[in-house]
Amino acid sequence: MKLLYLNPLGQVGGAERALLDTIAAVRRARPAWEIHLLLGQDGPLAAQAKGIVDQVRVLPFPPRLARLGDASMADRSIGSLQGMSFILRFVTDGASSASYIRQLRKTIASINPDVIHTNGFKMHVLGAWTRPARAALIWHLHDYVSSRPLTSRLLRLLSPRCTAIVANSESVGADARRQLGDRIEIRTILNAVDLSRFHPDGPRMDLDALGGLPPADSETVRVGLVATFARWKGHLTFLEAFARLDPTTNIRGYIVGGPLYETEGSQHTLVELQAAARRLGVESKIGFTGFVADSAAAMRSLDIVVHASTAPEPFGLVIAEGMATGKAVVVSFAGGARELVTPEVDALVHQPGDADDLAKALARLAADSALRARLGRAGRQTAVERFDLTRVGRQMLECYERLGRAAAA
Ligand code: GLC
Repeated sequence: MKLLYLNPLGQVGGAERALLDTIAAVRRARPAWEIHLLLGQDGPLAAQAKGIVDQVRVLPFPPRLARLGDASMADRSIGSLQGMSFILRFVTDGASSASYIRQLRKTIASINPDVIHTNGFKMHVLGAWTRPARAALIWHLHDYVSSRPLTSRLLRLLSPRCTAIVANSESVGADARRQLGDRIEIRTILNAVDLSRFHPDGPRMDLDALGGLPPADSETVRVGLVATFARWKGHLTFLEAFARLDPTTNIRGYIVGGPLYETEGSQHTLVELQAAARRLGVESKIGFTGFVADSAAAMRSLDIVVHASTAPEPFGLVIAEGMATGKAVVVSFAGGARELVTPEVDALVHQPGDADDLAKALARLAADSALRARLGRAGRQTAVERFDLTRVGRQMLECYERLGRAAAA
């Protein structure tokens, strides 16, 4: 069996993390399979994939198409319209797009894959256009199709060329079903995490030093929001929740991460978030660590991991990672994130964008170390039962073997 993965970006965000883990799981289960990865942009993903695939190729998108990636990744609401107008211009743009498609088609034909697995809207579209007749095409959806109304129209148009869809949650799958109709097979495969990396034991980090704060005493409860700076990830809700806590609460917040995709307007800047912390009077309680390569070590240094997305989260890898690390997790309870936790058993939840509700959950946890420990233990257990990579490997193999063979027959 020959597999070809197509990914638009070279940065490693959630969808790319899930892709790397999926490939590693498939590789482990079927070492003899030939695995290729083709990227539309150079970046750290190429280097990280090198050890697990047979060949990584970068076929850089023409600048116009590259910008489409930024717009649609970073902000759902403005991204959809901008994204589609880029697509339309791209499609009608003549020379550069036509030559890109030609090049991509030629490269794919030379690889001659049995299965093409696309990971991101632009590659879903390009994969459908360039797919050789004998290859199966799987669209792996990591985001809501409905969040991009115009793009979804294009996907509907191209859906007869797609063999099957894999969705990262039931919620994303149901949305795709509503948008694309029920002629196409849609299968939910929940993401998984590397349980040995996201583990309660392992190296930690000095988050205070990273965040420019004086060392905290050993009783201080540490709360972290681990996310890119995309506006819908809820940084303001997090800061507002801190402003609503009783000022005597011995608690510190850490904003872990930075702006990953460079799109004007769709991400917070550090300066903006620091100003918000000052305005809310919480700056002495908040550390900004910047981008951290080892997010597992950052999580181990926390007592509480917060997920605060203000829009329904398609999946929410950080939730699964926080649980696997054995931390008390507070989840914004909407979308695919609802499928990951059982409230009060292995996580606490709050309503998206509701800073009062989040503050209540934080106050409860800050005051109750036994509750934190109980949720952390239950979270780890859930992660072991539901977010194990071998499960993803098994489910993907089942798809590849069935669809790849059927397409080749
Ligand atoms: C996208 C989604 C996120 C999910 C990730 C991996 O980034 O927005 O919710 O965790 O893909 O599937």
